[in-house]
Amino acid sequence: SSIDKGPYEHYMLKEIYEQPGVISETLEGRIHNGRLLEASFGHETTALLDKAKHVQIIACGTSYHAGLVAKYWFEEAGISCNVEVASEYRYRKAVVPQGSLLMTISQSGETADTLAALKGSRSQGYIGSLTVCNVPESSLVRESDVSLMTRAGTEIGVASTKAFTTQLVALRLLTIALARRNGLTSEQEEVMVNELDALPRQVEVVLQLADEIQMMAGDFSDKQNALFLGRGPFYPVAMEGALKLKEISYIHAEAYPAGELKHGPLALVDESMPVVCALPDDPLLEKVLSNLQEVRARGGELFLFSDHKVEIDLDRYQNLMLSDIYPGTAPIVYSIPLQLLAYHVALIKGTDVDQPRNLAKSVTVE
Ligand code: G6P
Repeated sequence: SSIDKGPYEHYMLKEIYEQPGVISETLEGRIHNGRLLEASFGHETTALLDKAKHVQIIACGTSYHAGLVAKYWFEEAGISCNVEVASEYRYRKAVVPQGSLLMTISQSGETADTLAALKGSRSQGYIGSLTVCNVPESSLVRESDVSLMTRAGTEIGVASTKAFTTQLVALRLLTIALARRNGLTSEQEEVMVNELDALPRQVEVVLQLADEIQMMAGDFSDKQNALFLGRGPFYPVAMEGALKLKEISYIHAEAYPAGELKHGPLALVDESMPVVCALPDDPLLEKVLSNLQEVRARGGELFLFSDHKVEIDLDRYQNLMLSDIYPGTAPIVYSIPLQLLAYHVALIKGTDVDQPRNLAKSVTVE
């Protein structure tokens, strides 16, 4: 490839470290002085957002996880949202509510299932299609009515990292735009915009914790299975963390919404089951902590990523503390240590980090 790894051992690591920069890029010209610069989306896009009463998100893989986070955000902003993997959506009959916007999310813009779902949606009564995409000249951008570009630059590692976080940034911008249409005050807008403004710096700070994450990885690498737990938007963050681990370390990992633990996965928990969990300072914290208590009672080994304000009253755990994270962008920040954890576990296991077995960067055939 013409793009080199610079001082990094792998493209994936390089791409993880590029995140503060590419997040800034994705925000460039789109926010200013506590305001969303909606005009930067283009007139066609803002007109489509004016009409949108419901959003149907379609994507695959990591991009699907970004969509799942956005669902929490959009509904918080007052707009209903469904999210589905493209390979399912394209082959089923869908009932499309009036005023529905079709939103695809894709790094490559060439994923066959996502493209087919978009094409199939044309006869289903959508008000229009918007793609959140990383490749300007891609098929999805060409075939969609409008697009909002992530500006992650070329991503080479098969396991997506910077494409995912920039998708979340773009989706957060769309959240603000939709919230504006549902009674967002300018004070509230300022808070949301300032959270985004602070994000590159916060990601920078988390990246400096790599040594601690590497230590955690050491205790992780001999495991056969892992559970990733989260609640609210941190559930899809957990799904993405589990996917990263599966993809590059070949450890079987599964994500669960922490409240579902008692409905099955708790039966798997014993001394040999590592459990990874994000503990942001949010309204569901107490509930997550009591879920983790259940894990400890069965001997499960805890690997936590917590907000510095959170008090953890558990008998044994490893914890990485994150400071000064804002609620609106916390899912983005917490994704970073999970990427690094997967990377360092894979390094120890000696797998082909950038080109994991059986996987392709872009799946252009069904
Ligand atoms: C492949 C890649 C994943 C990616 C998915 C969707 O499976 O290995 O990293 O998330 O395709 O790709 P897209 O380009 O549509 O985001």
